[in-house]
Amino acid sequence: MSFLSSRRNFLKTSGMTAAALSVGCTGIPKRKHPTVGNLACPALETVKVGVIGLGMRGPGAVYRLAAIPGVRVTALCDIYQARVDGPSKWLTDNGHPAPKGYYGSTEEWKKLVEDPEVNLVYVASPWQMHVEMVLFAMEHGKHVACEVPMVFTVEDCWKIVELAEEKRVHCMLLENCCYGETEMLALNMARQGVFGTLVHGEGAYIHDLRGWNFVEGSYEAFWRLKWNTLHGGNPYATHGLGPICQYMNVGRGDQMRVLTCLNSGEFGFSEYVKHHQARIDAIAAKSETFADKDKYGLSTKDALLGPWKQGDMSTAVIKTELGRTIMIQHDTTSPRPYTRINLISGTKGILKDYPLQIALDQDYQAPHLGWASPAQMSELIAKYRHPLWRDSGEIAKKLGGHGGMDFLMDLRLCYCLQNGLPLDINVYESCQWSVLAELTEVSNANDGAPVIVPDFTRGAWKDEIKPLGIETVKLDIDENAKAGKQLSV
Ligand SMILES: NC(=O)c1ccc[n+]([C@@H]2O[C@H](COP(=O)([O-])OP(=O)(O)OC[C@H]3O[C@@H](n4cnc5c(N)ncnc54)[C@H](O)[C@@H]3O)[C@@H](O)[C@H]2O)c1
Repeated sequence: MSFLSSRRNFLKTSGMTAAALSVGCTGIPKRKHPTVGNLACPALETVKVGVIGLGMRGPGAVYRLAAIPGVRVTALCDIYQARVDGPSKWLTDNGHPAPKGYYGSTEEWKKLVEDPEVNLVYVASPWQMHVEMVLFAMEHGKHVACEVPMVFTVEDCWKIVELAEEKRVHCMLLENCCYGETEMLALNMARQGVFGTLVHGEGAYIHDLRGWNFVEGSYEAFWRLKWNTLHGGNPYATHGLGPICQYMNVGRGDQMRVLTCLNSGEFGFSEYVKHHQARIDAIAAKSETFADKDKYGLSTKDALLGPWKQGDMSTAVIKTELGRTIMIQHDTTSPRPYTRINLISGTKGILKDYPLQIALDQDYQAPHLGWASPAQMSELIAKYRHPLWRDSGEIAKKLGGHGGMDFLMDLRLCYCLQNGLPLDINVYESCQWSVLAELTEVSNANDGAPVIVPDFTRGAWKDEIKPLGIETVKLDIDENAKAGKQLSV
């Protein structure tokens, strides 16, 4: 049974879903292998990366990875040859060895995974392909890093966790926002106790994607729109959630316990389509000839013309075992300026982003607290700048990728692989952050009923899996990269 049809069956029994998730939680599969929360694998002398999916996101990863010493992009895969040829030419034009190219069918990526010259599979394909690719990579003993979100259902999370534990390979969600300059500033401040005891966090993905969803040549075969047509809840929680979990040590000393979610109705797409009816009707009419019917769950025409299950604004609240709360929002259909909110507050102060503001009450004076002045902000930013940004921030900005955070993510990933260190984001976090997709969908479908969040660590969060440290990498990046020549995304 395909993922999408099994999801539909699951939701049809929606009266049972909250209970079913609770049962899933108490019925946690028995552990067969030791935890991989702090997994350290043999160091890789050369990280040999195979990148799958070279649409809007994948090529940037190729350029960034190629800039890291001791890393080779050895293989590239997409359905379309032209999408492989472009980054491939770029690599050879810039003095790197030519990668092997895999293209021409939807199954070619399996050959990339099997290629002995690949020891890290880097997945940047549409959401609908992630689970299959991640599992196949691990089955073949490869480390795997996957774009956000990695996985969408509790059932698939367990498959991924069990396989990672059995094969003892790394499986990392490519949550680049954990490496944002402000997020890492907040992490450093949280670790140094500046906010006191952490109480509450807020994160979001509020990004107007109406234009991207209704235009040819952006998301391949309109996969994102198709997801929005079939699913409610919050499919894309990890950008806001990941950094807050790191501040709070969720999965490493604290753990999510229960979640509730309500979505607004859908208004944004309907009004947008009505306004652009002629243009969208024309794509829909043409799409009848597309060979993509059901490739991502339904035909392009159905996705273009609606109705869409995804409400405009999704708001979830999570409570952790230690009694903290996290609010997570998602809205990609309203005309709102971009924000991930990125708010963390504790007993001694608060940081919030968009724009960045900090307010502190270090001595419990309970003043009528105002935000720090520009001069105080400069001082705080300089004092608490994360060492990774201090050491490699300049080169990261040159190499790019959302202001440098994408490069720092890749740099840390490869550095840890090269040095046999645990990765910054383990398989349990990768699953738990991603699986909000299903948990929010089920809660919302049941009018906000609480849903128990499964503990994929099976208790190892209590004291076995250690909090993420304040880690850095200081590398000699090659001359090519120093010149900023590889800047692209
Ligand atoms: N972390 C971030 O900031 C960020 C930003 C953008 C996108 N993303 C994520 O990156 C992923 C890709 O998004 P995108 O915007 O590049 O989408 P896209 O549609 O532009 O690119 C996907 C590519 O995958 C290819 N593909 C599809 N099926 C394939 C198969 N079977 N084998 C090989 N290739 C296949 C498509 O041809 C396309 O080129 C998504 O998971 C998205 O959420 C993350």
